[in-house]
Amino acid sequence: MKKSSLLLAAMAIAAMPQMMAQETLRFLSARFSPTDNSTYSSPTFDDSGWRNISVLQPWGTQNERTNNEYGWYRIHFRLTPEMQLRSNGDAEKLLLDLGKIDDADQTFLNGHLIGETGVFPKGDKPYLTAWDQHRNYTVDLPSDLLNTDGDNVLAIRVYNGNGDGGKYDTPIRISIPYDVDGAEFTISESQTPKGRNLKVNIAQPQSPAIASDQLKGTLKVDFLDFDSDKVIASRSKKINITAGKSKDFEFAAPEGNVKALLTLTDASSKHSVSRSYHMKYILTPAAPEAPRFNTAPLFGVRPGSPIHFRFGVSGNRPMTFSASGLPEGVKLNASNGALSGSIPAEGDYTFTVTAKNDKGSASQQFTLKVGDKIALTPPMGWNSWNCWGLSVTQDKVWASAQSLIDKGLADYGYSYINIDDAWEAPERAIDGTIVANEKFPSIKHLADQLHGEGLKLGIYSSPGAYTCGRYLGSLGHEKQDAESYNDWGIDYLKYDWCDYGTKHDKERDRGTVASYIRPYMLMGEYLRSQPRDIFYSLCQYGMADVQKWGPMVDANSWRTTVDITDTWDSMSGIGFFQQKDLYPYAAPGGWNDPDMLVVGKVGWGPQLHDTRLTPDEQYTHISLWSLLASNMLIGCPIDQLDDFTINLLCNNEVNAVNQDILGKQARQIVVDGDIQLWARPLADGSQAVGIFNLGEKDTTVDFSRYFEALGIKEPSNIRDLWRQTDLHDAEWKIPTHGVRLLKVTP
Ligand code: GAL
Repeated sequence: MKKSSLLLAAMAIAAMPQMMAQETLRFLSARFSPTDNSTYSSPTFDDSGWRNISVLQPWGTQNERTNNEYGWYRIHFRLTPEMQLRSNGDAEKLLLDLGKIDDADQTFLNGHLIGETGVFPKGDKPYLTAWDQHRNYTVDLPSDLLNTDGDNVLAIRVYNGNGDGGKYDTPIRISIPYDVDGAEFTISESQTPKGRNLKVNIAQPQSPAIASDQLKGTLKVDFLDFDSDKVIASRSKKINITAGKSKDFEFAAPEGNVKALLTLTDASSKHSVSRSYHMKYILTPAAPEAPRFNTAPLFGVRPGSPIHFRFGVSGNRPMTFSASGLPEGVKLNASNGALSGSIPAEGDYTFTVTAKNDKGSASQQFTLKVGDKIALTPPMGWNSWNCWGLSVTQDKVWASAQSLIDKGLADYGYSYINIDDAWEAPERAIDGTIVANEKFPSIKHLADQLHGEGLKLGIYSSPGAYTCGRYLGSLGHEKQDAESYNDWGIDYLKYDWCDYGTKHDKERDRGTVASYIRPYMLMGEYLRSQPRDIFYSLCQYGMADVQKWGPMVDANSWRTTVDITDTWDSMSGIGFFQQKDLYPYAAPGGWNDPDMLVVGKVGWGPQLHDTRLTPDEQYTHISLWSLLASNMLIGCPIDQLDDFTINLLCNNEVNAVNQDILGKQARQIVVDGDIQLWARPLADGSQAVGIFNLGEKDTTVDFSRYFEALGIKEPSNIRDLWRQTDLHDAEWKIPTHGVRLLKVTP
């Protein structure tokens, strides 16, 4: 490059906003030879006859020899103008990020060895593999090894001892990183007596590519009004972080619908990186003080089975409940709205329930559908796994159950309290009966307590000899276990494949659909022969198209995925991609189960952390699970819920989508770049529509563009279900990973 253009480039950089991203050269392929010769390291070697192969697949899968052989990759590169400028700085390093190499390598820059990992075979000494090691080689700058304004050659000699070798995980990346480029941000928020704070943790990794051991600079936070993008407050702090360490920073944040824009600027280079975070915002309007019914107007129960049901009614307490036309054999608890008793004969029993408090009264016409089907709407409740994992105890379960009532979640239909794995004792009783371990002094007592409140108790087992947590499973004791569940008053069984795989693998018909159905059919029959209704929840991660045969084994729901975790990739992968084709299989009585909710505090026990889903991702999670008619099982301790999460879980109009009695699961209707529309028809003739933004930027969407795809002409009403308001326009800004959830009336 000529001097004058260098100067121009320098000026351009100075004038540019400080948000310039680190410049990286990325290579997805390289020239390759499956032979070995030391001249290949030389920059002047003529490799024009070599073929290009991908660095994202092993050379063995690209028709190159595989075993006990050497191969060479060569890449020609030139620095970008920005890199050329920086290549003269004393504190800088050239980073050659090669990813993993199977098995050993020697890497050369313009003929000079700059790094080696693993050991090549020598004489009768075998090679040593380092296939799993990420190669980050650096060259201190300025350096004679580097041709700053001309061609450079990176040559990698690779030895592969076994299998399909070579370089096959990441692209090859070449850069001159700034110190701030490596900074890792974890952004969350906290509530203090004075208001809320934005919490930022910045970790500076100990990377060979970082020029100084001290990251010094400023962290500036601009708080923007989400809708207008106007800055409403700005704060900044000096930072000084030693490489390999991290530091926490807190900034007082304004209330409202606010987005924080964070800019971290390195003091010496003035280079900066930025992140944004949309802070928690509550959309659900406060519930009226007068009584309001929030649950579906029907409940299915089998003839003669005990009824456990609680009317979900929000509003001031105390509240009294009364009914007119109550069928014989059924009682309504006047102070908590719990329905109990039983009805011997099939049929629809309709009556009116009234709830009264100091602010007024409300009534609901309600039908007990006595027949073969239970679970007429998806189950709502709580499960211990995502929070407590194997550290669950009866006290922890009761704490969540108690809070389900005290914090008002029971007023919105959450009614199952489910114990997951780790309640079982290490040995059965002498007669083979399953017993609980010392953490659960009395499951029967717990069931009685819950039934008194109109709530229900769930439990967990496996068709295998062991559960996934290596507790006792039901293999060989299925009948006995189903009878114990009946004795204790269990209302829900999650039956988890786990160690059944060991038995399955030895069976002659292993792998056939019949072999997958068998253990579930067996337990299904024993559950059905109990004189109580036990919701049957299959958990075998979707194997053998479980959705197609779940109803045949009398299942009420079937897990369709592996375990969820509290990340965007996990939740959105399960929700948007894995459920796409499953809508024909959901119906009253049997539901697809994309796994439990990951909102609030999770951790799989005993340590908990705030979900790593951003607030917008949580709105997406609940909206999508509602549209998908999924089981709504909360996976965090209810006694530790914050206001944001309560409002997320207790929006009656959103929950009504999940509990809609037509029981149709949403379909993906539109994929328009990052925007997806999912819709489900509702019992009242309207449809629920979720407009999701799966992209990395906030985006404005014109809803009317999609009317045709949704089969809508001129909607008579568009209601925003989170905000509970009717909308008079059709263009909205949808945050990154966020959603608008609508009810559209034709
Ligand atoms: C897994 C299951 C989880 C949880 C766990 C208990 O297989 O998918 O939801 O039940 O076992 O060990």
